[in-house]
Amino acid sequence: MKVRWPVEVAGTGASVPARVVTNEEFTRHLDTSDEWIRQRTGIRERRIAGPGESTLTLSVAASRQALADAGIGPEEIDLIVHATVTPEHPLPATACELQAALGCRWIPAFDIGAACSGFVYALVDAAQYLTSGLARSALVVGSEALTRITDMEDRSTAVLFGDGAGAAILRPSTDPQRGIITARLGADGGRARSVWVPAGGAAEPASIRTVSERLHYMKMEGRAIYKFAVTMMHALVRETVDEVGIRLDDLALVIPHQSNLRIIESAAERLGLPMDKVAINIDRYGNTSAASIAMAFHEARQTGRIKAGDLVLLVAFGAGLTWGSLLMRV
Ligand code: ACO
Repeated sequence: MKVRWPVEVAGTGASVPARVVTNEEFTRHLDTSDEWIRQRTGIRERRIAGPGESTLTLSVAASRQALADAGIGPEEIDLIVHATVTPEHPLPATACELQAALGCRWIPAFDIGAACSGFVYALVDAAQYLTSGLARSALVVGSEALTRITDMEDRSTAVLFGDGAGAAILRPSTDPQRGIITARLGADGGRARSVWVPAGGAAEPASIRTVSERLHYMKMEGRAIYKFAVTMMHALVRETVDEVGIRLDDLALVIPHQSNLRIIESAAERLGLPMDKVAINIDRYGNTSAASIAMAFHEARQTGRIKAGDLVLLVAFGAGLTWGSLLMRV
């Protein structure tokens, strides 16, 4: 099987806030129940950033772990690609603050705003730098403090989201058999308002009105996104395996974006993909957008669920609407 971009993952890390919030906690102020949340989403609990925690602190902790795992220092990194829709500040890119916090050189550092598809977009992007020779090692991060843009008074979104970060160190692979075999990225901007934050940008700067109307929080058409996500996960997995001529059995693990356990289960059922080949962390962390695949990837390496030489498929979909998949021999 031809490797398109020969890059390897040299190290990974993950970080979540200390505070665990169970479903019961929401029942104190919202008309919801532990049973509804578990049945409709598969979420048991999530982590919520507390005072002193933010997208940046999570990114720093995950990145330090990935550097240690790769056995390199921050001065050896040539590039930072940081995927998030909850940047530390509207300006500058959180990647720049991360560069300084880690003690990296004055290397290129930028954010990617592709929502839940962000980590897949970021990996593909970093692979271009590495294979073109623009960089020899890249730090790729998916990090979110999503609960900072979640309306805790809105039961249809409050229970879904959580905070966390995952990081990976990428470098050119020494073994030509290892690397990214294929990737698919896409977006349908016609559906930009299916998941969005109406205010706080150039179109609607912050004002007393935007705050009082709660326009700085995420609004979402849950049902429509649900259907889109099941269709997209199914299509991305099917098209990828058909393109490279492998069977689902050949995959060691599929790591989908963790938006809703039911979305993942129903796409897996349609594909005939057994759930023991699918990474799940939504039960513990909720939907952590750009961080979800990054954290699950780290966990799969840590627990030995993926080993050197395995075929791993990442598949993501989210606000934009965006989507992305990536088949890699790790
Ligand atoms: N507790 C109790 N009842 C609730 C809750 C809740 N937390 N939330 C909604 N309900 C109610 C609704 O009000 C509705 O009640 P009604 O029938 O009286 O009107 C009922 O439950 C059913 O609502 P649906 O929206 O049809 O419920 P559904 O089974 O679709 O689940 C959910 C909703 C969980 C949001 C689901 O649609 C979903 O997961 N969608 C995808 C979300 C997603 O993936 N977003 C990704 C983008 S995020 C990003 O990119 C950052």
